[in-house]
Amino acid sequence: MLYRNARIENAKESCDIRVENGLFKEIAPGIEPREGEKTEDLGGRLVLPPFIEPHIHLDATLTAGDPVWNMSGTLFEGIECWAKRKDKLNAEDVKDRVRRAVRLYAGNGVQFIRTHVDVTDPSLTALKAILEVREELRSLADIQVVAFPQEGILSFPNGKGLMEEAVRMGVDAVGAIPHFEFTREYGVESLNFACELAAKNDLLMDVHCDETDDDQSRGLETLATRALEYGLKDKVTASHTCAMHSYSNAYVLKLMRLLKMSEINFVANPLVNTHLEGRADTYPKRRGVTRVKELAAAGINVAFGNDDLFDPWYPMGCGSMRDAVYLGLHVVQMMGYGDIMNSYRFVTENAAKVLHLGDRYGLRSGNPASFVVMEAGDYFEALSHNAPVVLSVRNGEVISRTKPAERQVIG
Ligand code: FE2
Repeated sequence: MLYRNARIENAKESCDIRVENGLFKEIAPGIEPREGEKTEDLGGRLVLPPFIEPHIHLDATLTAGDPVWNMSGTLFEGIECWAKRKDKLNAEDVKDRVRRAVRLYAGNGVQFIRTHVDVTDPSLTALKAILEVREELRSLADIQVVAFPQEGILSFPNGKGLMEEAVRMGVDAVGAIPHFEFTREYGVESLNFACELAAKNDLLMDVHCDETDDDQSRGLETLATRALEYGLKDKVTASHTCAMHSYSNAYVLKLMRLLKMSEINFVANPLVNTHLEGRADTYPKRRGVTRVKELAAAGINVAFGNDDLFDPWYPMGCGSMRDAVYLGLHVVQMMGYGDIMNSYRFVTENAAKVLHLGDRYGLRSGNPASFVVMEAGDYFEALSHNAPVVLSVRNGEVISRTKPAERQVIG
């Protein structure tokens, strides 16, 4: 199969892509079709590696308004709504919603997903269901699962035991939620436990870290220190780190040295954190998004995620990475021309580092032939005009096609 006339990652000149046996065989300008070879003209459209959702909670996805809507929009009312919805949670319910969510993602060119799954549930219902359904969905997406202790590891009955059971069941990554533990000491101990569990089982880590406006929330320094000491380094991701928005500049100056040494990754969730943080503020209201610009400038890897998709905590979302990038750039003030052109990296190669996808991800010959085609010539245009992903190819197979809308302006 030969895809012709592709603009790869904002390249000025177009080139051709030959796919054979599910792999990129050749990526070069002016490839001549072989006799009988199928071709498709991409018309100079932008071609990118597949999008990656590095942070979502698929166990709660697509439940907004069921059985009640979150009327205030706050985190706490979200928790109340979820407590009511949890009664209906069973394996088929979880699987059905995950299937629908992954299909939404597939239509928007997302082929890799990291989901956090709440394991503060003695029956681990959602975890079992997601581990099963992810096999069924492999043709559409690779799903990485994080054992996420929503109600704490030390502050929830048998929290450590549930984390260990989740590891035995086959999760890819160990989570923690230090800022939610009853005490600062529990927070530190939960991170020590989680890091040891990850190191012992050779797993990745992704911690809900300091998702609060409290400038005294200091889970990040412990996580980075343990990542360094255990040699886990870039296997570790700090998600949210909202408190860093509110840290004093003097403290951040000191912290940056450790963050660079630790080599940990960051995931910011601009949509959900601008919506949920700053709720205790009157005016001015803090944005609650971590210091993406400064982290990136220091050479630290940062990706953007959605966090929620139509659930009790966040009622919006359509399974696209575009809005996280679009709002993210505004809120962290990265709207320079180069920033905008390169911003797809927050949800492609930077997110690939978070998921530890390695060299097999990316548009290179020999790699799995997975890519997306957008209805735009470059990412600036794609982002600004909310261009659809018109084609998504995964391991050489077309998994979604979208026909762009047609509009006529009369007069
Ligand atoms: Fe989250």
